[in-house]
Amino acid sequence: MRRIALIAALSTVSLAAQTANPEKLAPYYPTPETIIEKMLQLGGLKPGEKMFDLGSGDGRIIILAARKFHADAVGVELDPDLYRESLEAIRKLGLQQTAHIIHGDLLKQDYSSADLITVYLFPEAIDSKVQPLLDRQLKKGARVVSHDFPFRNWTPDKVVDIADDGQGRSHTLFLYRK
Ligand SMILES: C[S@@+](CC[C@H](N)C(=O)[O-])C[C@H]1O[C@@H](n2cnc3c(N)ncnc32)[C@H](O)[C@@H]1O
Repeated sequence: MRRIALIAALSTVSLAAQTANPEKLAPYYPTPETIIEKMLQLGGLKPGEKMFDLGSGDGRIIILAARKFHADAVGVELDPDLYRESLEAIRKLGLQQTAHIIHGDLLKQDYSSADLITVYLFPEAIDSKVQPLLDRQLKKGARVVSHDFPFRNWTPDKVVDIADDGQGRSHTLFLYRK
């Protein structure tokens, strides 16, 4: 799916989802595995570092961060089914020591210990809610990698365009450093 179609699809679902639940900052739309690896590499994730995925879906970013990058990985997910699904996947892989999921609102957490934050949320939510929160909480040197949607009030350190992920979908990754 090309980016325009992706944004249109997400926008339609998002409007409906946000009307039903104002806490919902984006619908579930998972990041492909190949792109997750690029996000974590771009974010320079190192063993033992603390990372958070804001709106962790089925936990795939947290799982890869813990399994392949040996990070201390925490996801935050509002949806109870996705929360349960991610816990189950973590348990099956035996990653309970380093992969954790918080069931709750990503806007109500403390990210002051984060070395890396990953985000795949809508620009409106980023501008009005997520960026002000991270401005207040992130320590100096913390990195943020955003998938497809930039933090429009921040200047990126790096922007990576991926023309085709193998499924015909294009992606843009934005790296920021506090
Ligand atoms: C576009 S999906 C991204 C999922 C995952 N990060 C990935 O890249 O595969 C956005 C996720 O954020 C979750 N979400 C939306 N608003 C949230 C909130 N206020 N607190 C926690 N999770 C939220 C949704 O349920 C959904 O799973």
